[in-house]
Amino acid sequence: MTSSSPSPVHKIEEYSPNLWLTPKVDLRFDLDPHLTVVRADYDVQLNGNSPGPLFLHGENLEFLSLRLNGAIVDPSEFEIQELGILIYHPPSSKFQLTIENRICPSKNSSLEGLYQSGSMLCTQNEPEGFRKIVYAIDRPDNMMQFVVTISGDPSLFPVMLSNGNLVYEKILSDGKKEVKWEDPFPKPSYLFALVAGELVETIDSFQTKSGRNVTLKIFVEKGNEKKVSFAFESLKKAMKWDEDTFGLEYDLDLFMIVAVEDFNMGAMENKGLNLFNAKLVLADKKSATDETFESILAVIGHEYFHNWTGNRVTLRNWFNLTLKEGLTVFRDQWFTEDMTDPAVKRIKDILFLKEHQFPEDQGPMSHPIVPKSYTEMNNFYTVTVYEKGAEVIRLVSEILGRETFKKGLMDYLTRYDGQGVTFEEFISSMEAAFGKPIPNIRNWYHRSGTPKLQVKETYDPKSNEWEFSIKDSSQKDLPLIFVNSYACFDSNGTLLAEGKRIQEGHEDQIRMRAIDPSGNKPIVSFFRGLSSPILLETKLAKEEIRVLAENEPDGVSRFFNFQNLIFLWMEESIRSGKSEDLTRLLETLGSGFKKDWDKTYFSFYLTFPSLNQISEQLQCFDFLKMETLRKEAIRNIATKFTKEFQILYEENRKTIPIQTKEEIGKRRLKNTALYYLLHDPSHRFEGLAVAQQREAKHMSEEISALRYLIEIGSKEKENGISLFYDRWKEDALVLDVWFAAQVGTGENRFEELEILETHPKFFIKNPNKVRSLYFSFARNPLSFHSKSGKGYQIIAERIKQLNVINPQIAAGLAKLFSSASKQNGDLPRIAKRELEDIQNLPNLSKDLGEVVGKIINSF
Ligand code: ARG
Ligand code: ZN
Repeated sequence: MTSSSPSPVHKIEEYSPNLWLTPKVDLRFDLDPHLTVVRADYDVQLNGNSPGPLFLHGENLEFLSLRLNGAIVDPSEFEIQELGILIYHPPSSKFQLTIENRICPSKNSSLEGLYQSGSMLCTQNEPEGFRKIVYAIDRPDNMMQFVVTISGDPSLFPVMLSNGNLVYEKILSDGKKEVKWEDPFPKPSYLFALVAGELVETIDSFQTKSGRNVTLKIFVEKGNEKKVSFAFESLKKAMKWDEDTFGLEYDLDLFMIVAVEDFNMGAMENKGLNLFNAKLVLADKKSATDETFESILAVIGHEYFHNWTGNRVTLRNWFNLTLKEGLTVFRDQWFTEDMTDPAVKRIKDILFLKEHQFPEDQGPMSHPIVPKSYTEMNNFYTVTVYEKGAEVIRLVSEILGRETFKKGLMDYLTRYDGQGVTFEEFISSMEAAFGKPIPNIRNWYHRSGTPKLQVKETYDPKSNEWEFSIKDSSQKDLPLIFVNSYACFDSNGTLLAEGKRIQEGHEDQIRMRAIDPSGNKPIVSFFRGLSSPILLETKLAKEEIRVLAENEPDGVSRFFNFQNLIFLWMEESIRSGKSEDLTRLLETLGSGFKKDWDKTYFSFYLTFPSLNQISEQLQCFDFLKMETLRKEAIRNIATKFTKEFQILYEENRKTIPIQTKEEIGKRRLKNTALYYLLHDPSHRFEGLAVAQQREAKHMSEEISALRYLIEIGSKEKENGISLFYDRWKEDALVLDVWFAAQVGTGENRFEELEILETHPKFFIKNPNKVRSLYFSFARNPLSFHSKSGKGYQIIAERIKQLNVINPQIAAGLAKLFSSASKQNGDLPRIAKRELEDIQNLPNLSKDLGEVVGKIINSF
């Protein structure tokens, strides 16, 4: 966790297979929260011809004993080091190694390895947590067959789980309980899991397409057993979808999910025993928002899909993380598209990419989806590896077509089943299915930064044709391949032509015949639905964008053109220093009221971009000015369409608290209408929000009303905050949104943060609480980037505290300083000083050290 010497950098070109492998392991746990004894029996075998020393990873372990082929080893034959154990002369090319050590789960606040959460013990091993449990060759290219025996006090641990199938369960003569699990599928150590504790088991089942019956179990802490039905439904949908879409069936007779309160991430795909952050499993209509329900569906899908893309075919090394993550995100996006609404889902994914991945890729943490090096792998579970990685897979699927893509995936999974591979194997399977090479696709894996493409147009009077050239002028040595879905319209918005072009390399030329004798230029919408993950610079005039924002038949493209119109208005207003004319913008927005759009879609169309979205798009960091303009526009929209919003609100007021497309759409549209009504200068609609919060039948209604009251600084705000707390004080997950709402918007929320962190329901050791308070504050630019620098000081102090508690979370919070060097005035200087202070911590973790070092270099 902490070290005095500089941490080693792992470089991709230095990867080589390990000298030794351990194809079989027999693990024994004697559980105790304070002192757990772990023993591993490995079959060790030489990987190659010339033997050499054997190194087993091990961190923060108390070594007990080492045996080779059953015989105790003399201490002169090995060395215990800070990062593992080195055995100088292994006895032969095949032998038995038994090693024993002790660990203390209750003191492990890093939430990696074996740790305590509430009354349970559980594990998180990806990427390198296994070495905090027991000495091991802890690398993904070391596949092992696991047999796991767990014993412990049955009153503390009535439930004891591991991967695979239960072999037996018995009470020993000393009163301890013992269970044995066996996983028939070989897997790397990062997919190993163990859970033990007083858990309630809920049960369901699924019949696979070949007729096998799979038992599904979800384990929760007592009291939560009523909140699992949506998770079960999601799981069964995912299992069915993977069969229907790819023909992929589940391969064990048991599939288990455990909901864990203290969890560093969303969830983890351990073979047959997925561990989940409780917030992504537990839900009922009263306590979960529609967004939470959709995340549960997506993440349950994601982890389930890993069973094939990640587990059956796994990674050779961590540089290739995107091989399983980009691919599995793509699969879960596709799944959600099929289960909900494809256009709305695509809009959400693009918005997320633009707001989070694009800035990461332009900032100090920028890296290719296959990073060239890392110090702490935990820092590379990034939106780039995940979401940009998924966009690259989407490109492949667009180039091949989805049916050929499915064939390619099947080829990949069949050919490499049981192996650890790289993106190269994936791409070559895709090329095999395609029947030819996919030019330049590999460069997407090596190139960092969001490609910026320019559109240039020229008119040829002789042929009466317009020619558009699309150019990627950066990184000449790494040409890419792009999918360009385009459509072209006349000035009335009539669709003239549409198509999909594959651009190989730096330049593409598209000729379009002009449509009228006067040679009017066609209006072309390029890269519709973000058909490649790029930034496009076009010379479209405002009027042309307006035509697209009103007439694009592709809902995704229409939405983003309307956003561009808003961004243009913002840009002009910032430049002139005053709110520019909104008439045309309002007309376009108003035209939406007459259309018969899907409700959720319409609510997105109506939603004014957030400060972070505007800032990222315009690369402007004067947040106060942008907020003033933004509120000005929102008030204008509210005043102009008061009637329409009132009608929308009334029409959608009564919703049934169920998760159907229609009801979700109603709730979202109603909330959007409410948001605008609350910005009516007369304040006469605040009663609606108060009543909505009080009478809510669904959390989406309740929390939105409260959020808006807080955001507009209503005099009802304090009442709303206490009412909400009184209702939900016993539900930790709901309190997370309560904490977040109080610091997530508004200027200078310092005092709120300082009061809330002393609240009896706030725990700095619980990542969900840290995310809801500190991360929400740091994502609120009006507070974090406050001119005074106070936001930076506050967050820097909390990072220092977290550095010793939970380095992964500390590093995640530090990443939010990435945009500090771009801020105005004194802010970069203040941020740099704070970061240097962190860098000088005597016990700086390698997680935090790597992140802070990179950000400091960007000043
Ligand atoms: N493999 C998990 C998932 O994407 C996430 C693991 C994250 N690990 C981490 N150290 N951040 O489903
Ligand atoms: Zn994943």
